[in-house]
Amino acid sequence: MFYGNFRNSQDIEFLKNAIERFKTMFAGVYAGDNAILFDRSLGFLEDQRFMNAFNSNVRNEQEQSLILRLNTLIWAAQHALSVEGDFVECGVYRGFSSAVIADYLEFGNLDKTLYLYDTFEGIPSEHDSENHEATEYAARGIYEGVVQRFSKYDNVRIVKGIVPDTFADAAPEKVALLHLNLNSSKAQTAALEVLFDRITPGGVIVFDDYGWAACRAQRIAADEFMTTRGYRILEIPTGQGLLIKR
Ligand SMILES: C[S@@+](CC[C@H](N)C(=O)[O-])C[C@H]1O[C@@H](n2cnc3c(N)ncnc32)[C@H](O)[C@@H]1O
Repeated sequence: MFYGNFRNSQDIEFLKNAIERFKTMFAGVYAGDNAILFDRSLGFLEDQRFMNAFNSNVRNEQEQSLILRLNTLIWAAQHALSVEGDFVECGVYRGFSSAVIADYLEFGNLDKTLYLYDTFEGIPSEHDSENHEATEYAARGIYEGVVQRFSKYDNVRIVKGIVPDTFADAAPEKVALLHLNLNSSKAQTAALEVLFDRITPGGVIVFDDYGWAACRAQRIAADEFMTTRGYRILEIPTGQGLLIKR
């Protein structure tokens, strides 16, 4: 699946044909999530544990398109296992990314907690710095679905409400992995203001929206925050941003 405002069906057809052509020209072709890679190893596709965790959680074409991003997240989560602190996701929606991480790592056996922060009712208007549709991420029953999804894990804490306000209710003292996926530069900065200092050296931040043209405001806000602290975020071809705390 590809995202964006295609002008017409001919543009979509062109893209489909180009991808088929790539496949005849090269080995190791991956096309999806607005990335076309060729002559690549794509080793993660051969990681059976990764594929099982991914495939058992995928529920639709949009989630299916996220496999490259999930590969980054699984790398970050595995790295963060040896870092003191808990795992945090800000912007959970239906819990897809965190479910893949938790299943991959058999999180229930770990001496860590996974904190999941979301309103589960969409982006709050006071944080909607990028003017999303009010109905986006706001379908009924999302919270209940996430509670059910993670019910097999005693060490997953689902914290419902507005970020950063809910950090006062529950937040780890030390963070090893922070996944920021709020689709809001205002909320993202507010989350960083509380959590960045809690990240243990060696801990990882994955910015889901960092390299996407449509999320430019989030990149600018993240860069401003990090520049004042002497960091530079790595933009990777998945559209994510990556940072390891020193
Ligand atoms: C792109 S979705 C997250 C996708 C998710 N990580 C996944 O794996 O599918 C963005 C989420 O951020 C949440 N959100 C945005 N701003 C928020 C805020 N200030 N407080 C809490 N949740 C927020 C929305 O409710 C929405 O569910």
